[in-house]
Amino acid sequence: MMKFEPELLRFENGTPITEPGQWPARREELLEILRREVYGYSPAAPDKVTCEVLNRQENFCSGQMSMERISVGFETDHGFFSFPVHLFIPHQEQPVPVFVLLNFRPDIFDQYYPLEEIVDNGFALAVIHYNDVTADTDDWNSGLAGMYSREKYNWGKIGMWAFAASRVLDYLLTRPEIDPSNAAVIGHSRLGKTALWCAAQDERFRFGISNNSGSGGAAYNRAKVPGNERICDCIPYKVPFWYCSGYPEWGDKIEEMPFDQHFLLAAIAPRYVCVGSAAEDLWAGPVQEQASCLGASPAWEFLGLPGYVGKTEPAAVGDDFSEGHIGYHLRDGVHFLSRRDWVSYMNFVKTHMAK
Ligand code: GCU
Repeated sequence: MMKFEPELLRFENGTPITEPGQWPARREELLEILRREVYGYSPAAPDKVTCEVLNRQENFCSGQMSMERISVGFETDHGFFSFPVHLFIPHQEQPVPVFVLLNFRPDIFDQYYPLEEIVDNGFALAVIHYNDVTADTDDWNSGLAGMYSREKYNWGKIGMWAFAASRVLDYLLTRPEIDPSNAAVIGHSRLGKTALWCAAQDERFRFGISNNSGSGGAAYNRAKVPGNERICDCIPYKVPFWYCSGYPEWGDKIEEMPFDQHFLLAAIAPRYVCVGSAAEDLWAGPVQEQASCLGASPAWEFLGLPGYVGKTEPAAVGDDFSEGHIGYHLRDGVHFLSRRDWVSYMNFVKTHMAK
């Protein structure tokens, strides 16, 4: 069994964690380490969010759902800010579970979500186009970035997109059609990193789901092999702005880092996290993503809950471990948020939904 560093069940000052009652304090410490070293600080949630319905179709697709284009807004340090969201809700009597998807494109019927299949499975879907929140560049004036001081929060774009997903949840929780106990946040790649960071901080999400999130997401840094993205790659790939300003400095000090990505998954305990990898996605690192699941598992086990229940050796294509609070699957193919990934995530949520 691999040993994961830093140790999850030991406070930063070296004191071992022996009682389940100490978990909330340790979780808070994990979040603080991740804010300080990786993603930066998030502003306090606004007192309220408002919503304007820009457009609504009661019977969308074959009539099985409503479709709304809404604008979610709130007060920030520098005034009012709003961004648009697409919201699809199945016509059902009972409140439904919801996926909040952070996506790359504003289009509906986008390749990253099989809309009808999701809705036909009884889920609502809220889709955020990440550039509507803030540009995926180092422009610190764009959208939400301009609404809070970068100096004060030292947050990166991942933190901002995550903050926006929480504001969408603020609004969704006011809708009677949405089941407040069964909300999931999901994203692919850089937005998979974002979904994990959002779920880690926001306990109202029962599920955090990351697809092919890789470095800065689910991938455990200390187990990286040639071909995997490393922390130092965020400089040549020109994306240090996803993180706090100090993060790239860890690139040549991996063994000294006071964190690794199993901390990110563990900060979701005792709730649910699901990680999906693609076999040909060496850059993200399927083995390294699975490793974080193994490394985070003691947090749940220590609380008396099943954590990661699956193979300890590298997963084979087709493996889908959904029994514990940490789900993991490996599908064949390349970097993509596929319909087959959604089938696995929907199954995970259905298995572990609050009934
Ligand atoms: C790049 C980057 C990854 C990221 C991916 C994406 O490949 O190196 O960290 O996950 O882009 O978001 O598509």
